[in-house]
Amino acid sequence: MCGIVGILGDHEAAPTLVEALKRLEYRGYDSAGIATVNCGQLDRRRAVGKLANLSDLLVREPLAGKAGIGHTRWATHGEPSVRNAHPHRSGGVAVVHNGIIENFRPLRAELTQKGYACESDTDTETVSLLCQSFIDQGLSPRDAAEQTIARLEGAYALAFLFDGEEDLIVAARRGSPLAVGYGEGEMFLGSDAIALAPLTDRISYLEEGDRAVLTRQGVEFWDGSGSKANREVRTIQIDTARIEKGGHKHFMAKEIAEQPTVLADALAHYLNDGAITLPETTPDFAEVDRIVMVACGTAYYACATAKYWFEQLAGIPVEVDVASEYRYRDAPVGPKTLAIFVSQSGETADTLAALRHVATRARIVSVVNVPESSIARESDLALPIFAGAEIGVASTKAFTCQLLVLLLLALKAGRDRGRVTDEAMAGHMASLSSLPGLMAQALAASERIEETSVKLAEAQDILFLGRGSMFPLALEGALKLKEISYIHAEGYASGELKHGPIALIDRSVPVIVFAPRTALFDKTVSNMQEVMARGGKVVLVTDRLGAVEASEGCWQVIEMPTVPELIAPVLYAIPAQLLAYHTAVAKGTDVDQPRNLAKSVTVE
Ligand code: F6R
Repeated sequence: MCGIVGILGDHEAAPTLVEALKRLEYRGYDSAGIATVNCGQLDRRRAVGKLANLSDLLVREPLAGKAGIGHTRWATHGEPSVRNAHPHRSGGVAVVHNGIIENFRPLRAELTQKGYACESDTDTETVSLLCQSFIDQGLSPRDAAEQTIARLEGAYALAFLFDGEEDLIVAARRGSPLAVGYGEGEMFLGSDAIALAPLTDRISYLEEGDRAVLTRQGVEFWDGSGSKANREVRTIQIDTARIEKGGHKHFMAKEIAEQPTVLADALAHYLNDGAITLPETTPDFAEVDRIVMVACGTAYYACATAKYWFEQLAGIPVEVDVASEYRYRDAPVGPKTLAIFVSQSGETADTLAALRHVATRARIVSVVNVPESSIARESDLALPIFAGAEIGVASTKAFTCQLLVLLLLALKAGRDRGRVTDEAMAGHMASLSSLPGLMAQALAASERIEETSVKLAEAQDILFLGRGSMFPLALEGALKLKEISYIHAEGYASGELKHGPIALIDRSVPVIVFAPRTALFDKTVSNMQEVMARGGKVVLVTDRLGAVEASEGCWQVIEMPTVPELIAPVLYAIPAQLLAYHTAVAKGTDVDQPRNLAKSVTVE
């Protein structure tokens, strides 16, 4: 949440800062701002709302200077307003920040006593104010920043820019990611490599507790103990084409449509000659007696789905928890426990904290989309999902790629434990290979789903039902719908309905039922009948046979290709995503940047 960027360039910084912020806007869009130093003078422009508002402001009030910092905000402390927008400026210091300064209140009280006044409601302004107070005591900007950072508690990625200093940015990282980019006589700073992709492919990541001092000549790093540090320079390959909308109206539409391709990419990486090829360091599941899976949001639902696979294929007990709970639980971890962390961004604060919570006690495998992310780097083994950059705030292709990698792990587990025979494995491989083609067929239902969604857009409440591995998908379908259409939606295990939620059913409540014609189909259909008997409007998402057997009385039927049971949750993610997408479009909401949300949740 919040994106930050910095440039010590050889040309005007403002347009490049805005371009870089565009690539970070998925991290927050409550306000945006930039500051530059020009002829020694620090100045800034800030605008509330989307980045476009800042761009418009810069047309009216341009900002010159070749050194600058920028910020796109997801509000934590203080409402979205110009006053609370970053960069915060106190005298000759401008600061951009991603994270939360937990001790900002005592710091603010101390500064107020000394006669320094805050102009905003933010925690961040304390940082610029504190830094200016050190400068007032005679410290150099660099030392003042150093002293300031030493006083901060909480999570931060910070960049400081100073009046009179056209060749200096000081940066620090604790809990929030930050990368330095190397140019020719230019240096860059960004929350992630995507922000810097058009500027450079040479990146160093700050580690926890690091400080960095950037000049156009290069960068010097210090670690948390104050010792000079070397940080590896990596060459990053980011497919910039995958960061464009590619003719689609929204990133989300593009990312939904990309799923056959990215799943094929992931399969090409992990399947060789009809066999699963995972890294040699992948655990031998014969030596694992329990799996703990931890994640947030959509990634959590991927874990909840994988629980069914690990239990069914490998007979391993699986515990699934949301990271914000797991990190504070005293969950027992045995010597044979494997902990799996799933995260698209690899930077989610709760997931990272949950990982650290067990890191010394369990073997850690992560399933991530960003191989250079903190979660990947702190794992014993990081398995990339190959989804490519996901820009739409609602996760789509990352979810199905997470499912795929988790399924491969579960199949390996089944093999390691002697529960999946050669013959069964051959069948599963054939199913996996058919997946990209089936996903493409499922996408063909988009128009039909759009017709249904136009009707769904009128609802106040929508329920999602599923059984077995379709239950987590019901939860995911509800999450997707509520986050982008703002319609209240809940997912339930079909069998739970009569234990309470059935009281909600009347003619105004559409009920979406995910029910491929698999072993649990008849059970799900019985629950669906209970809904229809009470006037509920059922949208049945099923295959051809399911439609033939159970369409009667349904309000809408959406047909999916017939799919092997094992991979059904991956395929049925498509109608779940398309229902949410088309409903949101019908309601006219901001699909890619829904209100109050941000893509990468780097605060607790
Ligand atoms: C929902 C969504 C979120 C994320 C969650 C975890 O569409 O995108 O629920 O899944 O914030 O994010 P990552 O996977 O980056 O850890």
